[in-house]
Parts: sequence; structure tokens; C-alpha cells
Amino acid sequence: MKKLFIIANWKSHKTEEEAEVWLDAYKIKEAPVAEKEVILCGPFTLLSFLKACVVYNNSQIKIGAQDVSPFEEGAYTGAVNAKQLKEFASYVLIGHSERRANFAETNEIITKKIQMAKQADLIPILCVQGIDTPIPENVTMVAFEPIGAIGSGHPDSPEDAEQVAKIIKEKHSVQYVLYGGSVTPEDVKRFTQMPSIDGVLVGGASLDPDKFTQIIHNS
Ligand code: PGA
Repeated sequence: MKKLFIIANWKSHKTEEEAEVWLDAYKIKEAPVAEKEVILCGPFTLLSFLKACVVYNNSQIKIGAQDVSPFEEGAYTGAVNAKQLKEFASYVLIGHSERRANFAETNEIITKKIQMAKQADLIPILCVQGIDTPIPENVTMVAFEPIGAIGSGHPDSPEDAEQVAKIIKEKHSVQYVLYGGSVTPEDVKRFTQMPSIDGVLVGGASLDPDKFTQIIHNS
């Protein structure tokens, strides 16, 4: 049985109080984990709280960040560097299309961010929008997220996602390819049963603990 990665991307959502409600409903202690790595990517402001909850409950959930500075520590006002993130997180999303579109992130910046994550021993999850998105050599985990599928309620077809995942694995030394874009409890299995797809990156549906739990169960 292949290992699956089920990742929640909360984006710019949730206060600490809301995160606590989510974790209670998710039943952090009893959450299933066998053969499924569950990763919660919260905003920077919640990483410390999420880490504390995970440690307190002896939970297997892994914490991820949604971005990282392209610089080391230093005079970069407002930036959160990889060494700082490593205190709380094991993974970091890099190059999400929302960052490329709204924060002018270029492939050059993204490559620097990947380097910083690697140096700090964080696992970068590089978001790519298609087979033409550059993938630096040292990347092992990629999330294929076609732009039109994100938050639209119109996921890619599992067959197309499989084809893209297969090509990425053939062309690069990438170990895991995930699919992201309007994943729901109803359709998650159609993606995770594809031979080249190793999990899902879930935005909207991850905000609801019941839906996210169903996605884990159904995957
Ligand atoms: P979505 O977001 O599940 O809401 O489409 C996925 C993502 O942007 O990572």
C-alpha cells in the first residue's frame, strides 16, 4: 500500500480560537494516521499554537507553513525565515499560484525559498501549475494544482492529473506528486487511487474539520 499525504492548506483563514474549535472537532487524539501522513499548513500566526496542540495531544499530525522567506535571518522586515519556521514546522508550501499571482513570486524567488527550506531541514512542497513549471533538482515533493481548479468547484479530471504526475516523475527526481484543486470527500479517492498520485492538497474543504476528516478516511 503506498503512503498517502493529505494536506490541509488553511490559506489566510482562522484565528487561534477558530483553530481550537477545528482541532476539537477533528479529534486530534483519535485521528487516523496509518499509511497516511496528515499535514496541517496554517498561517504563521498559528504555527506555535498548532505545534503546542500536537505535542500536548501526542498527535501524529505534521505541521506545515504556507511560505518562507527567500533570505536567511537578518534585516528583512516582515519576513519569516526557514530557521524560525523549523521550530514549529516540518514542511513548507512554496510557489502556490496565489503567491505567484498576488505577491509577484517568480521562479527565481521560488528557487531561493526552496534552498532556504532545504538548508533548515524543512521539506518543501513545491506547487506547480503544469508540466512547464520549472522544478529545481533538489525538490522531492510536488503538488500539481491547475489554476482553474483552485477554489472553483471544478477539479481537474483524475486522468489528466495522473498524466501530469507521471510526466513529472519521469522528467525529475521527484518522489511524491500530490493533486490539489477543489478536492472533496466525494472525489478524493478518484485521485488517490491513481498510480502516480501520492496524495492531495486541500484548500476550501480543509477549513471544515468534518469534511477534512472524511477526505482522510475516503482517500
Ligand atoms: P481548493 O484549494 O481545495 O480550495 O481548491 C487548493 C489549494 O489552493 O491548495
